[in-house]
Amino acid sequence: MQQTIAFVLVLLQFAFNADGALKNNGQFPRNFLFGAATASYQIEGAWNEDGKGQSTWDEFTHRIPSPVTNNDTGDIACDHYHRYKEDIKMAADLGLQAYRFSISWPRVLPNGYADTINEKGMQFYKDLVDEIVKYGMVPVCTLFHWDLPLKLYENGIDWRNEKIIDIFVAYSRLMIQNLPKVGYWSTINEPRVHCLRSYGDGKHAPGIAESGIADYQCSYVILKAHAKAYRMYKKEFPHYKAPFGIVIDCQWYVPATNSSEDIAAAERYYEFECGMYFHPISKGDWPDIVKKRIAHRSQLEGRSSSRLPQITPEDIRLMKGAQDYIAINHYFTIMAANAEEASYDEINYKHDVRVNLLNDPSWKISVLGWAICPFGVRELLKHLKEQYGNEPIIFAEIGVADDGTSLKDDIRTEYYQGYFCYILEAMQIDDVNVVAIIPWSLMDNLEWAKGYIYHFGLIGIDFYNDPTLTRRLKDSTYFYRNVTTTKRINCDNVK
Ligand code: NOJ
Repeated sequence: MQQTIAFVLVLLQFAFNADGALKNNGQFPRNFLFGAATASYQIEGAWNEDGKGQSTWDEFTHRIPSPVTNNDTGDIACDHYHRYKEDIKMAADLGLQAYRFSISWPRVLPNGYADTINEKGMQFYKDLVDEIVKYGMVPVCTLFHWDLPLKLYENGIDWRNEKIIDIFVAYSRLMIQNLPKVGYWSTINEPRVHCLRSYGDGKHAPGIAESGIADYQCSYVILKAHAKAYRMYKKEFPHYKAPFGIVIDCQWYVPATNSSEDIAAAERYYEFECGMYFHPISKGDWPDIVKKRIAHRSQLEGRSSSRLPQITPEDIRLMKGAQDYIAINHYFTIMAANAEEASYDEINYKHDVRVNLLNDPSWKISVLGWAICPFGVRELLKHLKEQYGNEPIIFAEIGVADDGTSLKDDIRTEYYQGYFCYILEAMQIDDVNVVAIIPWSLMDNLEWAKGYIYHFGLIGIDFYNDPTLTRRLKDSTYFYRNVTTTKRINCDNVK
């Protein structure tokens, strides 16, 4: 009921904000962190150099025919492995206070296990962290941003198999021991996207398409692996100050109409997308509606138990409270409408959620079809605070794509201005504890199976026409540098 009221209030709030000016004073706190984010496979290249093992993404992008747009691969990507000093200087020149990167697990552990270390790979990350710290930036490190060691996969170990949990914990321990200067740790990037794409619809490596079964198993195993790594960190590294968490992607979902069915659809979608990961960590179990929906369909499919793995009392002890801060990736707002119950012959995530998604025709839409709705970020923040308490929140990613044809990227400047203003509104008016904004991305890079055609970077790279991969400043670079250095934003014209 409380949630229903919240969703109705969203609509009213939107109407209110459309007329009224924002009330914040334009000033972020002095200790606020502005950063930029990247991920190993999307930028590093050097896919087979210096003793690196292959990842599932190396194998996936080398398949013939290629599952990736334009047959693109991360073989070279931004060539960051060789140019990291230039890139970190560029990040410092942007005025950043934080830099988020991820570790390529097979670069450090070629076969995935912590007993065989590739020293050159380890050295790369030590040097990278030193370079970040040299410029006074806080290193924000993700242990797993989707590039699984191929050797593990070939041995039957991936995120569907609980055997991965201890192997991941051993890898995490090793990295934490070796990178003591990291300022924020996170275990896994976007478990939802990873599980749905890699094990649900098969559009990401390793390409398993078992929607409604393998994706849920993946979510369960990932949550346990995260929680076990968290417990290990707390027990074995009590002297480390760096907060430890997991990066969860969470958009904002508004009902398509004010019918009770659509309001319930928006709530349901939120719980399937975000609650599925936040809830076990904050409260110890799956959200009720998720459990009910999957159990209901499982039963009518003639199964003796739910397709959703059960969280046991032992799991609850492990998972509940297993984070020091909330890290979210947020990009857009979407409308949810109630859908008809689909036939029980077909098993998939979409039928479990039973929601149709659409954009409001008045919304501005990016090349990826994602709606630019700054008001949504404030609503999400209020909701997170209401649901999970006022823990510190980091935006580990936030951003917009364009086609990269111009360095005059007005859409990105407009996006950031709007979103930053609404985040500040949530901080100052709703008292939400946001401590950092780390946009995606420092520079254009490989957008996974979509190749190099979508550009998210604050710094531009023309992958198709410029073999030198020269980094070029965009208009949004200058805009962002002004925000990072002054910690001020002008919200006068933001609606
Ligand atoms: C989420 C992912 O973490 C990142 O790898 C991806 O490139 C961006 N969002 C944009 O889709």
